[in-house]
Amino acid sequence: MAKYLLCFTVNGEYHELYIKPKRLLVEVLRDDLGLTGTKRACNTGACAACTVLLNGASVKSCSVLALQADGAEILTVEGLADGARLSPLQRSFLDHGAYQCGFCTPGMLVSAQALLDENPKPTREEIREGIQGNICRCTGYNSIIRAVEAVAKGKYKEKG
Ligand code: FES
Ligand code: FES
Repeated sequence: MAKYLLCFTVNGEYHELYIKPKRLLVEVLRDDLGLTGTKRACNTGACAACTVLLNGASVKSCSVLALQADGAEILTVEGLADGARLSPLQRSFLDHGAYQCGFCTPGMLVSAQALLDENPKPTREEIREGIQGNICRCTGYNSIIRAVEAVAKGKYKEKG
């Protein structure tokens, strides 16, 4: 099968790859770029473990063809931190124990970041709505909501 050129920027780094047209964004991120923070779980668009930002909008990368991201800017969970300095949201997740097995955590972080980018001071209800598509198989929703709420209340301002 023919391969097509994909040019995109991921976490600030520009990439050019030749890929088959049916490959999914999640596959290219994980298998070609080694960004395995993005999780592949249900593979049907139902759980949001694979959430990334595509030009600032959250998308389920198992439901997006990689070539649809041509020319786009992608942010994965790896792009939230600045080297060893965690983002405010990541620090808050750690402090609030907002993870158990951690499998949903990358998608939760990216979805919550998208929410905070759009609405820096969401209410508890808005936080619930913002992450409602993200399934936590460990059912740790309360601590996740508290962690996002703490950032919304300005308790975590800087990377650290
Ligand atoms: S792995 Fe993409 S939505 Fe579940
Ligand atoms: S922490 Fe296990 S799936 Fe959410």
